[in-house]
Amino acid sequence: NTIFALEEIDSTNEYAKKIAKNNKTGTVVTSNLQTSGKGRRGRGFVSEYGGLYFSIILKPNVSIDKIPFLTQLSACSVYKAMEELKISTKIKWPNDIILNDKKLCGILCEMSCEMDYVSYVVAGIGINIANVEFDEDLQKIATTLEKEGHYINKLDLFWRILRHFDYFYKKFEKDDYNEMIDILRKNSSILGKKISVISLDQTRNATALDIDEKGFLKVQYENGETEHLNYGEISI
Ligand code: BTN
Repeated sequence: NTIFALEEIDSTNEYAKKIAKNNKTGTVVTSNLQTSGKGRRGRGFVSEYGGLYFSIILKPNVSIDKIPFLTQLSACSVYKAMEELKISTKIKWPNDIILNDKKLCGILCEMSCEMDYVSYVVAGIGINIANVEFDEDLQKIATTLEKEGHYINKLDLFWRILRHFDYFYKKFEKDDYNEMIDILRKNSSILGKKISVISLDQTRNATALDIDEKGFLKVQYENGETEHLNYGEISI
């Protein structure tokens, strides 16, 4: 597989999207610095030197409704790599990795499709490693490995995540979600808790009940209604 290792770029996701057509599935783009790191919902992602930022180009042969699971697959890969390094994290469905109740890692998967056919997906992962100065608001909700007392080798972490990603991706292509669902359930930071489900036009209070066999989040609203969410935004 090809890995594009850059010094500085606006966003590895943006770069990956530009080269996706002419590169194979499994191609990786990483950069030491992102000047315009992207988060979900048009937000930014602080991407100073010292963090790990990368995007994986994927051309999966699966139907569109399975694509959101790639975010869960990415989360499982980061979780497993951290576990090997004796760092105990939690997974906040759908796209954050949490360490000591604060956000350590964000995941942003973007897909491009023509009609119902998925031409490519870019899975972007950003991990806070070095001890950067977050602004006041961010300090309350985000952390870095160093801030939590973990000093690790960035390249070593990178390889570990890619190895787990490769392993889980092969399972994903075979529709074998079991091991990943088990990880998502056992290490969720939200199951059993009261959450808010945020959609474009409303925010509803709910309880996070389970991660179902497809990786959807099963929630129960205050009126008793239940729903299985494939993707979405939640807050605790
Ligand atoms: C989020 O927290 O909302 C998602 C953050 C995703 C950040 C990663 S860093 C590598 C890749 N490139 C980007 O611009 N964003 C993702």
